[in-house]
Amino acid sequence: MAEKQIQCIYGTRDILPGESPIWRRLETAARNVFQRAAYCEIRTPVFENTVLFVKGTGENTDIVQKEMYTFPSGEDATVTLRPEGTPPVVRAFIQHDLHKKQGFWKLYYMGAMFRRERPQKGRQRQFHQIGAEAIGSPSPLLDAEVIGIAASILSEFGLAEFKIKVNCIGCPACRPAFRDALRSFFAARKDSLCDDCKSRMDRNVLRLLDCKNRACKTIADEAPKVADHLCAGCAAHYASTRSGLDILGVEWMESPRLVRGLDYYTRTVFEITHEALGARDAVCGGGRYDNLVEELGGPPLPSVGFAIGAEATLLAWEELNKGTPSPPEQEIEVYVAALNDEARSFCFRVVSELRRKDISADLDYEGRSLKAQMRSANRLNAAFTAVVGETELQNGTVNLKQMSTGDSAQVPVAELADRIRESQLKGAGI
Ligand code: HAM
Repeated sequence: MAEKQIQCIYGTRDILPGESPIWRRLETAARNVFQRAAYCEIRTPVFENTVLFVKGTGENTDIVQKEMYTFPSGEDATVTLRPEGTPPVVRAFIQHDLHKKQGFWKLYYMGAMFRRERPQKGRQRQFHQIGAEAIGSPSPLLDAEVIGIAASILSEFGLAEFKIKVNCIGCPACRPAFRDALRSFFAARKDSLCDDCKSRMDRNVLRLLDCKNRACKTIADEAPKVADHLCAGCAAHYASTRSGLDILGVEWMESPRLVRGLDYYTRTVFEITHEALGARDAVCGGGRYDNLVEELGGPPLPSVGFAIGAEATLLAWEELNKGTPSPPEQEIEVYVAALNDEARSFCFRVVSELRRKDISADLDYEGRSLKAQMRSANRLNAAFTAVVGETELQNGTVNLKQMSTGDSAQVPVAELADRIRESQLKGAGI
């Protein structure tokens, strides 16, 4: 019996050549937006000491309780594939004393994250985030900037109809009283809560506010509101964040039940959602984390950040743009075709010279007919074809054809690159 073909791991996906142009479009949009707002790129390893996420993401979060890929590292400690980017960035920031070089940093990253979740629409076990962490400022204008940047990346990529939801969840000064109020509210209704909420009541009562279970949602609608429990500092910060968003002209809505599933947040939290995704509708999540740098052993540096989920963003875009052709896989300037076997090594030389002169070019390596070579030229969206037959071989020329106009001319190889550039610059024929 034939051996079973080895497949990629459940919950992971290959991104094939046809799909990579749309990925690049998202990544390019992100890089452009980050560049304009003076964010620097940081790259950290995909695995870290497990304790970083236990301390950073939070011992009582679903991520740490249920979703981490953790394995022995050969010594006493265990290592974990990063489930999110914030603790690693903060760890690197502290380890390399970045704060000693300058007090305030704006960092961004892109890369794979790993969570052992049930795979579903837009949710995988290996997925990709595009994230930002602005470390070292308590300014509410920075909260607005960060939210604005996430929205700009999505818009510049071409995603429409997303919703920005914002809330303030207080700080260590005002949150305990809010937690107490929630606990007594939910304790009185415990019998009607789902099992998850019952078990979260002591560990993480805030999460009861965003439970997706219908009965829990109805109860949570009546629960005490965080806005009524904010201290003066948090209320003022929230008001300034809101006016910052209005200055940016970003459309957003208040979401009093938004709490987020990670432990480090203080004050501002936000999510960007898209209806096309169904139940798990977040394309981006983020917020302020004023105590994390200190909790991980660094100086007290208030910070704020976000992460966009690439898969969720692309899925929402695809749902919205069904039938729109994806961007072309490859585009080249010239396809050099051989009419006979003798011409092939000549074509090889022409292609290598064009590439050296910064002109993208390709040729056939399969000994195919001219017709088949022209099909390749079309597939590669070649702007020009250059055909080499007996006459061209003898004269050291190519038969150059501009695909958009149909113009053609015999061009000496030595002049080929200049002729192509000229016609591109003039936007005219050859
Ligand atoms: P998060 O809300 O856990 O936040 O993740 C951000 C985004 O990553 C989500 O909105 C979602 O689009 C995507 N995502 C999460 N899990 C999966 C999954 N299993 N499959 C596909 N996509 C997923 C964070 O990770 C924080 N570190 C964000 C942050 C940065 N807060 C402050 N700074």
